[in-house]
Amino acid sequence: MKKELGVIPAVYPLPVLMIGTYDENGVPDVMNAAWGTVCDTDKIALCIEGHKTNENIAKTKAFTVALADAAHVKEADYFGIASAKKTPDKFARTGLTAEKSARVNAPVIDEFPLTMECEFIEEVETENLHMVVGKIVNVLADEAVLDEKGNVDAAKLNALVYDHFGRCYRVAGERAGGAWHAGKDLMK
Ligand SMILES: Cc1cc2nc3c(=O)[nH]c(=O)nc-3n(C[C@H](O)[C@H](O)[C@H](O)COP(=O)(O)O)c2cc1C
Repeated sequence: MKKELGVIPAVYPLPVLMIGTYDENGVPDVMNAAWGTVCDTDKIALCIEGHKTNENIAKTKAFTVALADAAHVKEADYFGIASAKKTPDKFARTGLTAEKSARVNAPVIDEFPLTMECEFIEEVETENLHMVVGKIVNVLADEAVLDEKGNVDAAKLNALVYDHFGRCYRVAGERAGGAWHAGKDLMK
């Protein structure tokens, strides 16, 4: 017997994306975004609206997107509850460090293990959605999260995921089967 839960965004897991931008004075800001995803293989779409981050992207035409890891859950959550609109030293308060991306006008946060460097492409606004779309021009990874072939080993990322049901962060879980592979037997 299934129970009706009404209208809730019943997608799990959601990502914990750290959107890095520079303000008009070159001060780094980072915001937490769970409502975002990749489209195609080189684009990212973020449902973000009304934040200092939006103002920054409008000016710099660039942003970075890092995956938050379990070691930085405190900072990741803070980036989602504090706004640089009210707290100009928002980023500095965390003690994290940032370097300017070599490719786009946005900060790369040293402590996050995997970062996409993105050029702003467009803002899509309809009656139902508001999305900021970026082109991924490069990905930077700490060597510690790579396997022996140089590919990202998700097991080493300790990536946080957002659980909207429980309003908490979890650590991404274990391998359950090969994609484009686990279902092969049923093709016979
Ligand atoms: C877990 C979590 C997820 C969030 N996801 C989003 C999101 O997808 N889109 C959005 O507009 N705001 C989201 N927020 C809220 C922003 O991160 C928050 O308003 C932040 O203060 C904006 O920072 P800024 O004004 O410095 O850019 C989220 C907050 C939390 C805690």
